[in-house]
Amino acid sequence: MKIGVIGLGYVGLPLVVAFAEAGHDVVGVDVNARVVGSLNDGKSHIEDVPDETLAAISGRFHASPRYADLAKVDAVIVAVPTPLTANREPDLQPLIDSGTALANVLQEGQLVVLESTTYPGTTRERFGPLLEESGLAAGRDFNLAFSPERIDPGRTDYTLRTTPKIVGGLTDTCRQRAVELYSEVCDQVVEVSTPESAELTKLLENIFRSVNIALVNELAILCDRMDIDVWEVIEAAATKPYGFMSFQPGPGMGGHCLPVDPFYLAWRAREFEMQTEFVELAGEVNTRMPYFCVDRISRALNDQAKPVKGSRVAIVGVSYKPGVGDLRESPALKILRLLREGGAEVSYHDDFVPELPDFGLRSEWPEEADCVAIVTAHPGLDLQRLVQEAPLVVDFRGVTRGIEAPNLVRL
Ligand SMILES: NC(=O)c1ccc[n+]([C@@H]2O[C@H](COP(=O)([O-])OP(=O)(O)OC[C@H]3O[C@@H](n4cnc5c(N)ncnc54)[C@H](O)[C@@H]3O)[C@@H](O)[C@H]2O)c1
Repeated sequence: MKIGVIGLGYVGLPLVVAFAEAGHDVVGVDVNARVVGSLNDGKSHIEDVPDETLAAISGRFHASPRYADLAKVDAVIVAVPTPLTANREPDLQPLIDSGTALANVLQEGQLVVLESTTYPGTTRERFGPLLEESGLAAGRDFNLAFSPERIDPGRTDYTLRTTPKIVGGLTDTCRQRAVELYSEVCDQVVEVSTPESAELTKLLENIFRSVNIALVNELAILCDRMDIDVWEVIEAAATKPYGFMSFQPGPGMGGHCLPVDPFYLAWRAREFEMQTEFVELAGEVNTRMPYFCVDRISRALNDQAKPVKGSRVAIVGVSYKPGVGDLRESPALKILRLLREGGAEVSYHDDFVPELPDFGLRSEWPEEADCVAIVTAHPGLDLQRLVQEAPLVVDFRGVTRGIEAPNLVRL
């Protein structure tokens, strides 16, 4: 087959690799000329896709800024961003731009699959009509389906191939064609009856995490007041072999998905005169966590007779999760900003993020800090050294469990 992928980011590029490795010719289209240029030079901007992987598929993949290159493909997968506006409402602009541009080159018989996370109804009511501007009818002249991406950057135990793929089509034929497409790269394809079901499935998965993380975050704040070790409680509860699933508290949620996706559902629900209270409450609790972290740092400094103002505070780990350099919505940035506003002299250390231009900072090992706060613990981080060298370490990830030291404070 010839496959087109629109949007060559965390989601699109692994798809490109999967289809090319399965022997298909792939053209990837992206509006970012830098991304297109570097991919064609064999340089990957996504940690999960090493340059060697790109080299191995170079004969079957090329990146392009031109939608016209999609006219000859059998199937087009769309993986453009679905962010929020400044008012925290769905920002479908990239999706609208890609749909409009694709309509100009859409061919009879092509299959189009949307993968971008979005609210139920987007594929049928927003994306389909844009493509129909081509003069072709969805479900009759071309096929249209939604299949949510389940990629988890940095994860290696489950891959695109071993993670079941959900597919919902506009018609039975749309669905069947999408199933055939993904069967090339996924061991199991799970069919649902409509694109709306597929869209909501993805939101349920992410909201499930968001709500459960909010629950343990709230518990962590309570445990802090009650002087109970929240990590011990969660570990103990997790010994129950049924009916409990363990989630970890932390400095707040980051990334493109968890802080963003619930708002897509909450926004859509309002059209149906419904407030999704669980969803919104979880968002509120998780959004408060960076503020709690700053309060915890300030209390820990206070115990050492130091104010935040003028203290040197080093944040260790600024990306939103271990093993990746992704800064999107990272709570560490919020913590840095709040500390700086409070008059602290901030610095940071992160092997995956060499510099933070917005803060005028470069990654450095915390040599002279009054307080080191572990916000994200990347693999290989030398925790013993941190605890030995720093006068005060505040651990928001529970990674120092097992180390006992008077200068160590855990969430
Ligand atoms: N990153 C994840 O872990 C993850 C996981 C599951 C689902 N998703 C969803 O997948 C979608 C894509 O996310 P991502 O993380 O890959 O984003 P990303 O920002 O890494 O990549 C998106 C790419 O699309 C390009 N783009 C933007 N507008 C375009 C247009 N009009 N035409 C062509 N290219 C365009 C951008 O230049 C960028 O390279 C989002 O809806 C996201 O919610 C992401």
